Amino acid sequence: MNARAHSVAALAALLAACGGGGALDNPPTLANPPGATGQKLSFAYFQRCVNPVLNQPLPVTLNGSTSINTCASGGCHDNTTGTGGALRLLGQATAVDPATLSADAIRASDMYKNYYSSLGESVVGAPDQSRMLNKPLVRGVLHGGGLIFENTDSREAQLIRYWISRPMPQGQDEFSAAANTMFTPPDPATGACNTE
Ligand code: HEM
Repeated sequence: MNARAHSVAALAALLAACGGGGALDNPPTLANPPGATGQKLSFAYFQRCVNPVLNQPLPVTLNGSTSINTCASGGCHDNTTGTGGALRLLGQATAVDPATLSADAIRASDMYKNYYSSLGESVVGAPDQSRMLNKPLVRGVLHGGGLIFENTDSREAQLIRYWISRPMPQGQDEFSAAANTMFTPPDPATGACNTE
């Protein structure tokens, strides 16, 4: 057996010893379980209570100077002109009426694009691990937009925290009536946004 054949045999033997199957297989130990619960966050609460925060002029402190800006503004998280990473927002998104529109029609709306992008920045059921809350708080992470929420007691932080902490029941979708109890009185159209 010539030297080259010898080194290939040695490499194959080495890979087999490391638990690899064929020479180029992935190691068998790689695990990629599906999302734990697959639960969704409430669309109704997002539309009434979270989306207004994303359009609200707020003090933005960056490098020691404070200005007023909105999360959805150009240069920040605007879908077209934003520099805000994966959180992409349409500031002009108008409210949709879940009572009269089909789920597919809502999912085609601009408001739903804001919901979906914000959901992508959230760990369902775990607000303290969610960028959607930690970035504007600059809590354990840096934020290109600086400090937006002074602390976790701010009303805006509490609204985002409550939304992420209250997923819809397993097996129910983002339009579940279970969200009614997130409002007082328990009516998504007229109730005040709960935060605890
Ligand atoms: C309540 C308001 C805001 C929220 C909830 C928010 C949230 C976030 C989130 C979740 C990310 C990470 C996106 C990713 O995963 O790629 C991010 C990044 C970013 N944001 Fe914001 N943001 C807000 C306001 C702002 C504002 C007002 C600005 C501009 C002044 C801004 C500028 C940026 C920039 C430049 C990044 C990319 C760099 C980075 O990842 O930190 N944000 N923001």
